[in-house]
Amino acid sequence: MNASDLLRNSLLQLSKSGTVRTTIERAPVSRGVVRRFVPGEATADAVRATAELRMTNRLATIDYLGEDTLDLTQAIHTRDAYLELLAELKRADLSQLGMGEVSLKLSALGQMLPGDGTKIALEHAREICQAADDAGTTVTLDMEDHTTTDATLEALRELRQDFPWVGAVIQSYLRRSEADCRDLAHEGSRVRLCKGAYKEPESVAYQSSEDVDTAYVRCLKILMAGDGYPMVASHDPRLVEIAGALAAHHRRDPQTYEYQMLYGIRPEEQKRIADRGNQMRVYIPYGEEWYGYLMRRLAERPRNLSFFLKSLISKK
Ligand code: FDA
Repeated sequence: MNASDLLRNSLLQLSKSGTVRTTIERAPVSRGVVRRFVPGEATADAVRATAELRMTNRLATIDYLGEDTLDLTQAIHTRDAYLELLAELKRADLSQLGMGEVSLKLSALGQMLPGDGTKIALEHAREICQAADDAGTTVTLDMEDHTTTDATLEALRELRQDFPWVGAVIQSYLRRSEADCRDLAHEGSRVRLCKGAYKEPESVAYQSSEDVDTAYVRCLKILMAGDGYPMVASHDPRLVEIAGALAAHHRRDPQTYEYQMLYGIRPEEQKRIADRGNQMRVYIPYGEEWYGYLMRRLAERPRNLSFFLKSLISKK
């Protein structure tokens, strides 16, 4: 077993340990670290973080943490958490015109449940979309591992029949993604382009960071040249710069695309982008499932460990 496999296995072990979770929660330093990436567990924490971002002209997309549920009660709880969140955003005047939108993982809404999982997740997503519509905001479907890509894009097509503003995520590391971008680069189509965060086999995904980055640029070219609404989700300074150059080349109005970054990552750069008149949206994860979320993110791709560690020492 090599060093990165060892690290991955250790992190996955730790992700299941209640004792370690309690220790981390109680330790003042680690608690501060967690708070940098996850503003809290309650709806009020997500609403507060959204309101704080608004003070510096940043937009938000909010994720109620959890995924891969095999428990119907948990899937229903997740749906209800989103419904409560959307009601609270509306009440706080933070949802209008898509200012505070939500990001959903279909696996958290029941997609993996045996039997009717796909149907149940779609029904839950539909109810959340209706609440988002009532609150004057939008929904984006997160993209999970490659075995779910077709099902998620199918759910997207279904949801868009009633809610044409539902957004999708495309991961540039997947070999199929250029073709998916071409399919999705049409008018009214909101597409979040990210590199991708899961460990995927070589048969479906580029493995080297150079290949993933050049694939990102190819996808970005398609989206920026198209008629849709590209959402540039990356902290990579080169990709952010290339996105700006492509937008200028295609004479895109700043309202026709946006930048996105994760909560707590490169906050000064987020503010700089918003200050120069571009739309900057921050992805806010919240909820009780933060521990597993952080540990699994680190375990899924050991490179993410340096991603999080770098964030602790860099505020730029
Ligand atoms: P990467 O991690 O390769 O970093 C590239 C460069 O960015 C670094 O070399 C450094 O220069 C700079 N940088 C990165 N982090 C920094 C830091 N903390 N401080 C200073 N500089 C830093 N994934 C997925 O599979 N499905 C999904 O649905 C989503 N959704 C999603 C939404 C949003 C809004 C974002 C931003 C990301 C996602 N992701 C995702 C995660 C995504 O796929 C990816 O894993 C991370 O964004 C990390 O990739 P980067 O593009 O940031 O580059």
